Amino acid sequence: MIKNEILGTEITPADKILHIGCGSIPYTALLITNATKTPVTAIDNDPDAIRNAKILIKKTGKNYPLVTLQCADGNDIAVSDFDVIFVSNSVKPKKIILERIISSMKEGARLVYRNPIKIFGLSYDYETVIVKGGKSMKHIKHSFLVLRESIIFEK
Ligand SMILES: C[S@@+](CC[C@H](N)C(=O)[O-])C[C@H]1O[C@@H](n2cnc3c(N)ncnc32)[C@H](O)[C@@H]1O
Repeated sequence: MIKNEILGTEITPADKILHIGCGSIPYTALLITNATKTPVTAIDNDPDAIRNAKILIKKTGKNYPLVTLQCADGNDIAVSDFDVIFVSNSVKPKKIILERIISSMKEGARLVYRNPIKIFGLSYDYETVIVKGGKSMKHIKHSFLVLRESIIFEK
């Protein structure tokens, strides 16, 4: 999944990446930086998650100098500096955060977010958050139980 998201965003080492909602196991950040040699700022609003993520990175025995872990909320962080912004599926309030990112991300930046499977109309279809405009929108389909697709929106 992350491999296809990396391919779809066409990340280059010159890009700056933000991952919102990295959790205690910041695999998204580690896989991105391993695959692309690009700096990744990984944030979570739960201080325990950031503490655990730091411990986990230490346990790998590797330094990961390109990964910065920060306790911050996706609703507050300035996104205009970043070239590619990943938003985890369970980030809340997701719709508000996506709308804020879309309005303040820079031209040419890419937003990657995940759409859950629709279960009895209970899940929100986040595709509707995306306003018309932007340069492109790609859909990367998944065959997971809960995740339907990743959407890559380029402003
Ligand atoms: C379950 S984890 C998933 C991360 C997963 N390891 C990955 O690589 O995609 C989702 C995390 O999002 C965090 N989170 C939820 N809302 C957030 C917000 N508004 N800002 C930052 N982090 C948030 C939660 O604290 C949780 O740790």
